[in-house]
Amino acid sequence: MGPGAFPAFRPRRLRSTPALRRLVADVAVRPGDLVLPMFVREGIPEPVPIAAMPGVVQHTLDSLAAAAVRAVAAGVGGLMVFGVPARKDARGSGADDPDGILNVALRRLASEVGDSTVLMSDLCLDEYTDHGHCGVLAADGVRVDNDATLERYAAMGRAQAEAGAHLLGTSGMMDGQVGAVRTALDAAGFPDTGILAYAPKYASAFYGPFREAVDSSLVGDRRSYQQDPARAVAEALAEVALDVAEGADIVMVKPALPYLDVLRAVADASPVPVAAYQISGEYAMVEAAAQRGWIDRDRAIVETLTGIRRAGASIILTYWAAEVADRELTS
Ligand code: PBG
Repeated sequence: MGPGAFPAFRPRRLRSTPALRRLVADVAVRPGDLVLPMFVREGIPEPVPIAAMPGVVQHTLDSLAAAAVRAVAAGVGGLMVFGVPARKDARGSGADDPDGILNVALRRLASEVGDSTVLMSDLCLDEYTDHGHCGVLAADGVRVDNDATLERYAAMGRAQAEAGAHLLGTSGMMDGQVGAVRTALDAAGFPDTGILAYAPKYASAFYGPFREAVDSSLVGDRRSYQQDPARAVAEALAEVALDVAEGADIVMVKPALPYLDVLRAVADASPVPVAAYQISGEYAMVEAAAQRGWIDRDRAIVETLTGIRRAGASIILTYWAAEVADRELTS
C-alpha cells in the first residue's frame, strides 16, 4: 500500500527545503568508500598527462608517492595502482619481477602510506605484454591460453603481496584466476593478503581511455575472455559465485554506469562486500561534456557516484576519488 492518494499525499512536500531533502536522503557517498586508481610509469622524468582523461597522469615514483599521501590525507578509502613498464614482452615479464615498476611502486607506497590506507594492485598482464592481452597467447599466437596465464597470475600475486599490497585486483577474466592466486598466496605465506575480484567484467568500449593510460599495444579485442554485454544478469551471478567459492574477499562489477542492473543483482546476492569501478570512459565522458559547458561537472560527478551507490556498491573505484574527498563533493 502506498501512503495515500493526492491531494492528501503530496510527494513534493519532502522536497521543499534543503533541510528536508537532507533529512530524508537514503544514499550517501562517503570519501572512505572511494578508491583512487593511479598509474605509475617506468623511466619518465616528469608525470605525463593522459589526454583522454583530463586531470589524470602517468606518475613517476615520486609524484605517485606525493599524490598518494595527498589522497590519503583527503580521506579516500584506498588506492589501486597500475604499472606501466618501459619494456613489454610476450609473457609480461615485468609483472612478477620484484624490480618491475608496479612492485617497486607498491614497496614505496607501503613504506609511505601503507598502514594508513588500503593498498591495492592490478593483477593482470595487459600492461606488461607486447600484444596487449590480459594473458599469454597459445601456440596459435591468437588465443589467450587460460591455464598458462594462471601460472603467471600466481607469480604476480606472490610478487605483489611481497611488495606490500593488501588487496590484489584480479582483473584478467581468466577462469580460475581467484583460486590460482589464493592458492599461491597461501603457499607463499601470505594468508592475510586479500583478493578484490573483478567478478562480472564486460568487454566494454568505455575502457578506451585506459589504453592510453597504460600505453597499451592491444591488437584486436578482449571478447573471448571478457563478458558479452548482451548476456543476462544470471551470468554475472555465476561469475560472482565462482569467485566467492575460490576465495574472493570482495567482488567488483565493471564498468559501473551501463551495468547498474548487474550491480544491484550482485549486491543483493553477494555474501562479500561489493565494489564497482567507474572506469576511464565514464570519467572521460563527463569531463569532455563539462569542458564544453554541456553539463555541470560537479553535479554530474556526484550524481553518477550516487547512482552507483544506490545500485548497491559499498566501494567505488573512481578517478575522482581524491577530488571528491578533498572538496567534500558528496551528496
Ligand atoms: C585490466 C584492466 C583494465 C581496466 C582495469 N584493469 C583494462 C581492460 O580490461 O581492458 C580498465 C580501467 C578503466 O578503463 O578505467 N588490467
